[in-house]
Amino acid sequence: MKTDVDTTLWAFAVATKLSGAFMQPHVAMAYTFLLFAALAWLSISLVYWAHPGGPAWGKYCFSKGKLSSFSNFKPIPGPRGLPLFGSIKLMANQLAHRQIAAAAQSHDARRLMAFSLGHTRVIVTCDPDVAKEILHSRVFADRPVKESAYSLMFNRAIGFAPCSEYWRVLRRIAATHFFCPKQIKATEDQRCAIASGMVSSLGRHNHREPFTVHQVLKRASLHHMMFLVFGRRYELDHMNEEAEELKRLVDEGYELLGTLNWSDHFSWLSDFDPQNIRARCWRLLPKVKVFVSRMIREHREKAGDRDCMDFVDVLLSLQASEKLSDLDIIAVLWEMIFRGTDTVAVLIEWILARMVLHPEVQSKVQNELDQVVGKYRSDVVDEGHTARLVYLQAVVKEVLRLHPPGPLLSWARLAAADTLVDGHHVPAGTTAMVNMWAISRDPEVWEDPHRFMPERFVAGEEGRVELSVLGSDLRLAPFGSGRRSCPGKSLGLITVTHWAAHLLHEYEWLPSASDWGTGVNLTEVLRLSCEMAYPLTVIVRPRRRALK
Ligand code: HEM
Repeated sequence: MKTDVDTTLWAFAVATKLSGAFMQPHVAMAYTFLLFAALAWLSISLVYWAHPGGPAWGKYCFSKGKLSSFSNFKPIPGPRGLPLFGSIKLMANQLAHRQIAAAAQSHDARRLMAFSLGHTRVIVTCDPDVAKEILHSRVFADRPVKESAYSLMFNRAIGFAPCSEYWRVLRRIAATHFFCPKQIKATEDQRCAIASGMVSSLGRHNHREPFTVHQVLKRASLHHMMFLVFGRRYELDHMNEEAEELKRLVDEGYELLGTLNWSDHFSWLSDFDPQNIRARCWRLLPKVKVFVSRMIREHREKAGDRDCMDFVDVLLSLQASEKLSDLDIIAVLWEMIFRGTDTVAVLIEWILARMVLHPEVQSKVQNELDQVVGKYRSDVVDEGHTARLVYLQAVVKEVLRLHPPGPLLSWARLAAADTLVDGHHVPAGTTAMVNMWAISRDPEVWEDPHRFMPERFVAGEEGRVELSVLGSDLRLAPFGSGRRSCPGKSLGLITVTHWAAHLLHEYEWLPSASDWGTGVNLTEVLRLSCEMAYPLTVIVRPRRRALK
């Protein structure tokens, strides 16, 4: 009771004080001003928000005024989202590609949709023709600024370097030295050795005990990149502290780059680093520098000792206009490790998942392998065989169609100048995305798009589609297209096809006991790549018992 009386007295005192304060003319004026300012701000936010595509588009339109050239064009349709925030929830979710496709469908904006991520204007297409228009345009040859990428020095590597002479030099180095056919051929033996390592590693599992393949694939892929980049060879089965250290650095960077950073889209948040991304990047970068610098130092000390040039040797041997500073070399090498590791592992896991789910397709692949490679223990797959593995290639294409590792083509593009896309005005500074996942499941582009049917890519089969996945045909361009398309695509494709061939030649892949009947869980999660949300669990059974 006493408390009630105290509270009432206290509230009365505050009310009296406030009303007293309001009585003071200058305080009342200040409050009125604040109220008007808040109302004005709210009205402006609502006006911006009312524009198709949401607040960032509204702000642009009104800042340019109704008479600008922008207003002569029909606005791009798209969701408004929330005032101030726009459609951030489309991207804040781990299935952004699906959410965006659904929004485009509901706004009848598959060709081109506008939306806002805080203050960022975004366009996205789910149409192959418009995708080509964007990806092949000179205007869209830049990447949007992403704080974590810049903090981790990726702006000095190929993926995030602005479209400049420096970036062109890096692309040239990649094309002529890192990924040229001669270099790919020169490193084939090590890929064979890693594939055999995977086979032995899997062989150590009891053939009735289920296990997950994710870690084996990821380690194989990391070891592959460690060899290409630093010339290091590791045994797959032995824990190696150096490889483990690099794995920790890659995992951390992967998480940082794969997280939607609110500070990228709300300038007023950038001082606060609310998700702790900046602080984590600052802690990670010195470790990366120490690791890669050590490798570079060792290469300088042992210059000329190696039979096969790795990426460090290549970069250290460059002269004149191509010569890079040590910091730039670190950035380029770190990006290569980073980009080449997870994409390959993720794609092979999807391929194996589909093989478990479709045993009839698996048998067809294995029959082909037996015919092309042989069915005795001494017959081992090598990269020379892959060109003749027509059905396996079709399987890889079909998996890339249904499970592209970069469903939104990994990293978006940025409009460097005002331009037109599909007849709409797109202002400079707009982020552009291509929803490759939606294109490759579009019923107007693909017959029976949700069905897993590698036959659609086999020459001679009825209803087949003959296309290259390397970027010339936008119906299926999982490596992107145009000037910023993936420079590692040939290497990625040959590695995936070769390792998948090896694993399928050696083993029959069966669902784990707990999955019998229900099959494999194909739920996706979009991190930096689109992975299986529930890692594939399998039982493997050796296939080739007979000896020659
Ligand atoms: C299955 C394997 C791979 C897939 C699906 C893949 C996919 C992609 C995609 C979709 C892009 C963006 C393209 C665009 O914006 O148009 C990209 C860019 C890139 N990829 Fe790959 N990639 C793979 C393997 C690799 C490998 C093995 C490396 C290097 C070792 C690599 C290095 C890069 C780099 C450096 C870029 C940035 C290119 C630039 O901005 O100029 N990728 N990749």
